[in-house]
Amino acid sequence: MDLKSKIRVIEDFPEKGISFKDITTLIKDKDAFSQAVNLIVDDLKGMDIDYIAGPEARGFLLGTAVAYALGVGFIPVRKPGKLPGKTISHEYKLEYGSNTLEIHEDAIEKGKKVAIVDDLLATGGTVSSVAKLIESIGGEVVALEFLIELEFLNGRNKLEKYHVNSLVKYD
Ligand code: PRP
Repeated sequence: MDLKSKIRVIEDFPEKGISFKDITTLIKDKDAFSQAVNLIVDDLKGMDIDYIAGPEARGFLLGTAVAYALGVGFIPVRKPGKLPGKTISHEYKLEYGSNTLEIHEDAIEKGKKVAIVDDLLATGGTVSSVAKLIESIGGEVVALEFLIELEFLNGRNKLEKYHVNSLVKYD
């Protein structure tokens, strides 16, 4: 199945000039959803992954499904103030302003291999921040997996040291 055909594009959301890639139409389709999850799982097989990590909120939708299908646990990376235990934070710059993400400081045992799953690679700021958080608590980031890649934003350029895979590309 052509996964791209299942993604709904909504112009001028959340603001004028942005062509929003809406994955709700893909994940409500059971065949498209399972194909997307299985393709990511296939790419990760043989990498000896211990955990999947994913950022709030859309990273949870795919990340937990991939973790379940791969037979490993899931580690949430959340917006500030949401995780109840002791956390560490990382702040990263956006075009305008900044974002902060948090992880439980005891979420990953030293040396465990982690793959990050998110719905979308745009500038790469979010996934870089997630990778930094994982590495700062002793995890080893071995792969970055995305449903969608916005190639024209060149996010991949700042992720050269990682294995990067995306299923649907927009240029
Ligand atoms: C979106 C998307 C990625 C991120 C990609 O999340 O789900 O996590 O942006 O952009 P980047 O590569 O430029 O960092 P958003 O911040 O909109 O949060 P949400 O999933 O909670 O809607």
